[in-house]
Amino acid sequence: MQRLLVTGAHGQVARALTAQAQGHFACRALDRTTLDITDAKEAEAALRDYRPDCVINAAAYTAVDKAEQEQAAAYAVNRDGAAHLATACARIGARLIHLSTDFVFDGRTNVPYQPDAAAAPLSVYGASKWAGEEEVRRIASEATVVRTSWVYGPGGGNFVRTMLRLLQQRPQLSVVADQFGSPTHTHSLARFLLHLVRHGQGAGQTLHWADAGAATWYDLAHMTRLLARQRWPERVWGDVVPTDTAGYPTPAQRPRFSVLDTRSAVAVTGLTPASWMCMLDQALRLDDAADWLPA
Ligand SMILES: NC(=O)c1ccc[n+]([C@@H]2O[C@H](COP(=O)([O-])OP(=O)(O)OC[C@H]3O[C@@H](n4cnc5c(N)ncnc54)[C@H](OP(=O)(O)O)[C@@H]3O)[C@@H](O)[C@H]2O)c1
Repeated sequence: MQRLLVTGAHGQVARALTAQAQGHFACRALDRTTLDITDAKEAEAALRDYRPDCVINAAAYTAVDKAEQEQAAAYAVNRDGAAHLATACARIGARLIHLSTDFVFDGRTNVPYQPDAAAAPLSVYGASKWAGEEEVRRIASEATVVRTSWVYGPGGGNFVRTMLRLLQQRPQLSVVADQFGSPTHTHSLARFLLHLVRHGQGAGQTLHWADAGAATWYDLAHMTRLLARQRWPERVWGDVVPTDTAGYPTPAQRPRFSVLDTRSAVAVTGLTPASWMCMLDQALRLDDAADWLPA
C-alpha cells in the first residue's frame, strides 16, 4: 500500500482526501499543530519520520481578503511552506502534489485558462500561491502542481455553507454576477488527486482540475438556494439577487473570469469532470445535513 502524507489535516480538501484514502492508502494527515509547514525543520522531521511515497500539500493560508493586510503570513505558508515541503520531499525521494488556485490569473480573458497561461495575480493571496508554485517547480522538478477553483465541501469554510447560513438569516442577499469560475466539490478534487497518486501520473506537470462548466457567484448562490429549498422546505430561505463587483467591494481583487481548462488533466488521467451543478445537487441532497447547516 502506498504511504500518503496530507498536510493541513483540518482543511476541507484534506478531510475529503483522508476520507477517500481510507482502505486504499496508508494515510497520515497532519494538522498545523503536528506539522506547521512554515517550519522547515518540522517539515523535514515529519517526512523522515513517516517516509511517505507521496505528500499532498493541502495546507494553505486561504483567507483571501485578510491576506491583503497579512502579506507576510500568507507568504510564510503559501510560498515558504510549499518550499519547505518540496525540499523535504526532494531529500527523502517522496513525490509532492501541491495545490494551487485559479486566483493566480488576472481574469482578463473569456476562454478557459490552460495550465501554461501567463500568471498575473491580482491579490496577495494569488501572488503568494503563485510564488509557492514557482518554488515547488524550482526545488522539486518531479512535483505536480494542481490548480483548482471555487472549492466547497461538507463541513468546510466555503461559499456554499456561507450562503446556506446567510439565506436563513436575511430576506434578501445580493451576490456578484459578473465574476465567472467553476465551483468544485472537494469530493471530485480528492478523487482526482488520489488517482494521480495511485497511478503515478502528472509528474513534473502543472494540471488544472475543476468541476465542469462555468458559473457566477450569483449562479452558485441561486442554485444553492433552489436545492436547499427542496431538501429543507420547512426552513425559510431568503432571495438571491444579482449585483456587480462594483456593488460588492472587497479588500482583495478577484479575477473576472477564472475558468480552468482541464483538458490536459483529462488526457493524463482519463477522468472526466462532472458538471458543477450535478456535484452540488449530489452534495446538498445526499450529504449529512449537519455538514451543511449550522446547528
Ligand atoms: N477554498 C477554495 O475555494 C480554493 C480554491 C482554489 C484553490 N484552493 C487551494 O486548495 C488547497 C486547500 O484549500 P482548502 O479549501 O482545503 O483550505 P482550508 O479549508 O482553508 O484548509 C487549509 C488548511 O491549512 C491549514 N494551515 C494553515 N496554515 C498552516 C501551516 N502553517 N501549517 C499547516 N497547516 C496550515 C489550515 O489550518 P488552520 O485551520 O489551523 O488555519 C487549514 O486547516 C489550498 O492550497 C488552496 O489554496 C482552494
